Amino acid sequence: MDSSASLSRPLFVLAGVERTFLLGQTRIHALRGIDLEIMPGEFLAVWGPSGSGKSTLMNMLGLIDAPDAGRIVFDGEEVAALSDDAKSDRRSRKIGFVFQNFNLVPVLSALENVMLPLQLQGKAKDEAAARALEWLDKVGIAALRAFRPDHLSGGQRQRVAIARALAAHPRLIIADEPTANLDSQTGHEVIDLMEKLNEETGVTCVFTTHDPRLLDRVPRQLRLIDGQIAVGNYGNDGVKK
Ligand SMILES: Nc1ncnc2c1ncn2[C@@H]1O[C@H](COP(=O)(O)OP(=O)(O)OP(=O)(O)O)[C@@H](O)[C@H]1O
Ligand SMILES: [Mg+2]
Repeated sequence: MDSSASLSRPLFVLAGVERTFLLGQTRIHALRGIDLEIMPGEFLAVWGPSGSGKSTLMNMLGLIDAPDAGRIVFDGEEVAALSDDAKSDRRSRKIGFVFQNFNLVPVLSALENVMLPLQLQGKAKDEAAARALEWLDKVGIAALRAFRPDHLSGGQRQRVAIARALAAHPRLIIADEPTANLDSQTGHEVIDLMEKLNEETGVTCVFTTHDPRLLDRVPRQLRLIDGQIAVGNYGNDGVKK
């Protein structure tokens, strides 16, 4: 597949995706028929109230969980046809994850945290260190490279996590509530940073939030309500216009 073909085809196609959980006797329909296409290079926010299915959807995009009905095609491949090994290969090569709790390794410095996935990919230590430093610079905290996470603020930790996710050159960044543990000013800065990196590198970004105030400058917004994509325009107060 040449690169022009892989740019013109969707990175994701979801068709009729459903996910049901059994909680005791109760059946919870977390996703009720999601149809969605995401093109390479898009910057997309998934937002909606608690329990609307945001994390369930992100777990589908991260190849962590599978639908009970419907299909998902990721980068031209039918996900249901992939073995577990193939899925974890696609995850480590093509997807970078950013988490609400940052998920940094506490005993490693900022630089070593960003180096880790590069070394796991087989890069030599010097090369991993050079590339990690470049990414810390891109997220604006190269000066803090020797600090361990417990000496960094929440916003700085999330910058390390974003650098770590991007250093491995994924096609896609998945961030489930990346701003949930940050104050609103820092939350805005983190979203602005992801948007800047999306523009500079072309990496596709999908993030979730329950805070509509973060969506001002986000080009594509998907509102989830009760496991379905809401149709129509919603204002920043979450109310349908
Ligand atoms: N592993 C699970 N077992 C049982 N129920 C689950 C499981 N995961 C999610 N659910 C249920 O599915 C629904 C959607 O959950 P999900 O975590 O996707 O919502 P969310 O939009 O991410 O919410 P939040 O904003 O609180 O993170 C909820 O009713 C939730 O309780
Ligand atoms: Mg969630």
